[in-house]
Amino acid sequence: MNAPSAPNDEASLPDGLVWNRRHMLGIEGWSAAEITAVLDLSDRYVEQNRRADKRSTELRGRTIMNLFFEDSTRTRTSFELAGKRLGADVLNMSVGSSSVKKGESLLDTAMTLNAMRPDFLVVRHAQSGAPKLLADKVNCSVLNAGDGTHEHPTQALLDALSIRRRKGRLEGLTVAICGDILHSRVARSNIHLLGTMGAHVRVVGPPTLIPSSIDRMGVEVFTDLDEGLKDADIVMMLRLQSERMNGKFVPSPREYFRFHGLTSERLKVAKPDALIMHPGPMNRGVEIDSEVADDIGRSLILDQVEFGVAVRMACLRLLASTQKQSN
Ligand code: CP
Repeated sequence: MNAPSAPNDEASLPDGLVWNRRHMLGIEGWSAAEITAVLDLSDRYVEQNRRADKRSTELRGRTIMNLFFEDSTRTRTSFELAGKRLGADVLNMSVGSSSVKKGESLLDTAMTLNAMRPDFLVVRHAQSGAPKLLADKVNCSVLNAGDGTHEHPTQALLDALSIRRRKGRLEGLTVAICGDILHSRVARSNIHLLGTMGAHVRVVGPPTLIPSSIDRMGVEVFTDLDEGLKDADIVMMLRLQSERMNGKFVPSPREYFRFHGLTSERLKVAKPDALIMHPGPMNRGVEIDSEVADDIGRSLILDQVEFGVAVRMACLRLLASTQKQSN
């Protein structure tokens, strides 16, 4: 695809682009035009991030607070980098050494931080709906960095950008989302996004890890990996989220790999140019074999990490444009 021009200091949004959302809580309900707007702007930030001087001043003076109640490597660091590359001040609150440990509630913590007048709160929490709860109370923009099993909107956007940059489109592609669908906020956000953009979405996994009503989201359901992978353009593997499991959902990691792990042998039924994705962190030898994960010709896994920064820059920039209008 043509390389879009990188934004410079105080860059304006592309002509005609008006953004109306104050928060980013989930992809559900977004239009194709909104998704495309984020992806188009992200393409420009990919170019900025590949320059020697990666900084602009578009968010100069703004403050971003990262509030992560669950562990993270990719999402937290990429939001931090995204903010800094746009010239904002970024604060990472360490929940482990905060007054949360003394029993302060989520809402009291958020209201306390809100009183320091941040412009953005980036929230990850084990409880589905936690970012929405905060968004209803605070007067800054809230970005959902993953809430329980509900949504992980910026992950789906960076996944879409990774696919679009390699395949040139989303419409008409067959995407197989495989593994622990039940506990996956990544799966839910991707199902909303890919469906809206005209992709054919399959979910593939053992019956114990597929929600009973998932077909209502417009996806095809497969419990056999070979059937689910047949002629797929994109194979998106998901982590087995043992930390969210109460009880036994799979006999053992070894058995799981045998029937539901992606290997180069299994991949043969997908399209010859099928691409491999994983949101990370990966359990090698559980849901994916290293040979497949590290196949530089077919694996998009490191592209996903790179483009995560650009997507988060685009999200912050778009939300900032609504703050300007209301200030
Ligand atoms: N994909 C993802 O959310 O990774 P982290 O948990 O490392 O942020």
